[in-house]
Amino acid sequence: MDTEILRPYPAALDKAAEILRGGGLVAIPTETVYGLAANAHDAAACAGIFRAKGRPQDNPLIIHISDTEMLYASVKRVPELALRLAKAFWSGPLTMIFEKSDAIPDTVSGRLDTVAVRMPRCAPALELIGRCGFPLAAPSANLSGSPSPTSAQHVFSDLNGRIPLIIDGGECVTGVESTVICFENGGRSVRILRPGAVTAEMLSEYADVTVDENVFQKPAEDVKVISPGVKYRHYSPRAEIIIVECEDERGLADFLNGIKEKGVYAVLYGDERGVELPRIDYGVTAEERAHNLFAALRKTDELGASRAYVRCPEKTGIGAAVYNRLLRAAAFKVIKL
Ligand code: TXA
Ligand code: MG
Repeated sequence: MDTEILRPYPAALDKAAEILRGGGLVAIPTETVYGLAANAHDAAACAGIFRAKGRPQDNPLIIHISDTEMLYASVKRVPELALRLAKAFWSGPLTMIFEKSDAIPDTVSGRLDTVAVRMPRCAPALELIGRCGFPLAAPSANLSGSPSPTSAQHVFSDLNGRIPLIIDGGECVTGVESTVICFENGGRSVRILRPGAVTAEMLSEYADVTVDENVFQKPAEDVKVISPGVKYRHYSPRAEIIIVECEDERGLADFLNGIKEKGVYAVLYGDERGVELPRIDYGVTAEERAHNLFAALRKTDELGASRAYVRCPEKTGIGAAVYNRLLRAAAFKVIKL
């Protein structure tokens, strides 16, 4: 199958809606990363997502809605706190986990009795969901395990020939996936299962917030995790990724300058001095680093890197999301200087 790339003009969205109504797959832009979408009410269509990505069957999908009516049709109960958070953060990069209704097939929920829901802050995505009239189940539109796609080109390089259509909405604004939360204490507090642009600090204005222990550590082999996606190797390019935590930049340069092999790159903030390794800059500010992280990881492959040392980001605000993804890309390899 030839994969077409179309800008989000009305005719392209009509075509996308037609494919989705027929049980097919379309890659769509969102403000976080590109998603690989199918009709969330159609089990066979959603099974196609798992095949195209090579995704493990027990890793559930997020469903994307364009209005709150779609939420009520997809879940059993909406806690009062969820409504307040929806008012504050939707449309936007916050995914909330609810008890699922019968409209959501087991394929979507990975056989859990819950479903993850978000409303993307992206006009073409909202327009398309509205045209379809059903929610779109959409994981990130990468091959399972590889860095998430933040441009139509990234999607094309992973899924060319596996899907009929990519809607090209340009580069994703945020660059890291949505914050995933579940409710605790009868819907009075929240637990962050995956950090994103809606930060713990922002959520704590509305509720007690716990950051799940698996956000910054490798889940133990024998423990049942709440969010199945966190247990897989993830976001990894072919190059070996190693995080370097450093207090002072001189120490960082000294360490990196001690590495003499070929094919080794340094992924840096852009303002470090004296580093001799070839470098990829992922951004001066925390927001830039989030925006550029996955493109920088993909770049290591384009350059044929065998290994890349990545300067550790800050661990607060949106930096928590960047650090969380990097830890997995690095298979938890961190060097502390
Ligand atoms: O920003 C995003 O969320 C992007 C865009 C496309 O919307 N989507 C995305 O989907 O990142 P995906 O499938 O790559 O990640 C979904 C995450 C996984 O870690 C999965 O385990 C978790 O959400 N998840 C989904 N449903 C869940 C559920 N019912 N309970 C717990 N975790 C769930
Ligand atoms: Mg993903």
